[in-house]
Amino acid sequence: MVDEQGFAAYPAPAKLNLFLHIVGRRQDGYHLLQSVFQLIDMHDTIYLRLRRDGQIVHHNPLPGVPAELDLTVRAARLLQPKGSDWGVDIRVDKRLPMGGGVGGGSSDAATVLLALNQLWQLQHSRVDLMALGLSLGADVPFFIFGQNAFVEGIGEIMTPIETPPRYFVVLHPQVHVSTPEIFKDPLLTRNSPSIKVGDLEGAVTRNDLQACAVRKYPEIAEQLNLLQQFGDARMTGSGSCIFVEMPSQAAANTVLCGLLESINGFAVQTLNRHPLYEYAK
Ligand code: C5P
Repeated sequence: MVDEQGFAAYPAPAKLNLFLHIVGRRQDGYHLLQSVFQLIDMHDTIYLRLRRDGQIVHHNPLPGVPAELDLTVRAARLLQPKGSDWGVDIRVDKRLPMGGGVGGGSSDAATVLLALNQLWQLQHSRVDLMALGLSLGADVPFFIFGQNAFVEGIGEIMTPIETPPRYFVVLHPQVHVSTPEIFKDPLLTRNSPSIKVGDLEGAVTRNDLQACAVRKYPEIAEQLNLLQQFGDARMTGSGSCIFVEMPSQAAANTVLCGLLESINGFAVQTLNRHPLYEYAK
């Protein structure tokens, strides 16, 4: 697992929101939601190498993003005990679409928290890491929870759900969606009826953020139309990615092969657990 430069590789998987209902709003402006968060087998890879000089160094921050604002660096700083000489070198192999609604940035941060919890021998509980993670973003606690879940609150209340293996075609319209911009839309539906976890099967669901995203980004509407011929296609998170369920990996591959080369698409399978699930108890 350790490369010639001493870096070890840690996968940071993506998620799909199989549905996303807005059921209310908190006083601080954050929206209360209900959603099923599903882990899938697409991932970024975070490379970490221990340091003993207390420094946290990002070796390839994204263009235009100061290292200090990078979510992986912020996650490491949040976890680093005061005055500690534990440090880390960070490199990220970014594969997940950004501004795509698949949770890439949140998953990168969660993977850093899980991996450093072990590398720095901190033994924080999963619940503690989830609470720390929430301050980095509403989706971070889910990735630390590490199991598919019915999610409530602003993204911090989790009920695990078991799902059989499922297959999806995911398309990435080439637009970067700003999550705050979608949540701020005055036309956002805010009154989806509340669902109980026991009633999930057979419930009529949708993504309440989809109408706003489609209005703002015609590219999303175009690719949704395209995908709709294969089933109940919808958006994940605040977009831009959209997905449709397929009966098998082979069927997903066949659909992808039939699409224009200019379309950025993936055939994915569900995961049961975050690959680093065991790094927190
Ligand atoms: O927490 P995160 O950085 O992922 O959220 C980005 C923005 O999306 C927030 O600043 C907020 O405007 C909006 N948001 C929201 N309700 C949520 C999650 C996010 O209003 N449950």
